Amino acid sequence: MKRVAILISGGGSNMLALVASMTGDHPARPVLVASNDPVAAGIAKAAGQGIPTATVDHRPFGRDRAGFEAALLCHIEAAAPDILCLAGFMRILTPGFIQRFQGRMLNIHPSLLPKYPGLHTHARALAAGDNEAGCSVHEVTADLDAGPILGQARVPILPGDTEASLADRVLALEHRLYPAVLRRFAAGDRRPILLP
Ligand code: GAR
Repeated sequence: MKRVAILISGGGSNMLALVASMTGDHPARPVLVASNDPVAAGIAKAAGQGIPTATVDHRPFGRDRAGFEAALLCHIEAAAPDILCLAGFMRILTPGFIQRFQGRMLNIHPSLLPKYPGLHTHARALAAGDNEAGCSVHEVTADLDAGPILGQARVPILPGDTEASLADRVLALEHRLYPAVLRRFAAGDRRPILLP
């Protein structure tokens, strides 16, 4: 059985979708949910599911990213995960951290990568006049939002869509895509999943 640690910064809806999926014959189980934001709503939700949680506030570390990561790593290593899932984790990780989990760290990003890495993905898709949007799950490498794609799901952009309406529609899709990719990845299969 693979052990999965999930890093979050916010509401944790993707985290909950991953947790809900890891039952029965699923080849993985959640062992830790950790956040850089001590009041991230997802932490209480994870605790409510009986999952061990940890928070390491990044703010006292200032620009010392390595110091923040060392503190976070104490919790992660104690949980001995095989796989690390970033699920709305909004801190950039150092190459050293990424190297440590090379080939074992996944991220979900709210765009059809390689389009729109970084922030404000939905606003950028709308501003560009795109007719579709979506989300991607990828392996985390040293290049931001640019590792090998393990899954993608697309939705049409509708007339009258706003950043909020598009984000809602894509988020619902994220909740289907990420669990599907994790299940396959945990079983050792890296073939990309394309939804719908
Ligand atoms: C999700 O839309 C996720 O794709 C995005 O943050 C949201 C987190 O929601 N992640 C990024 O933008 C990463 N750069 P959640 O906390 O409810 O899962």
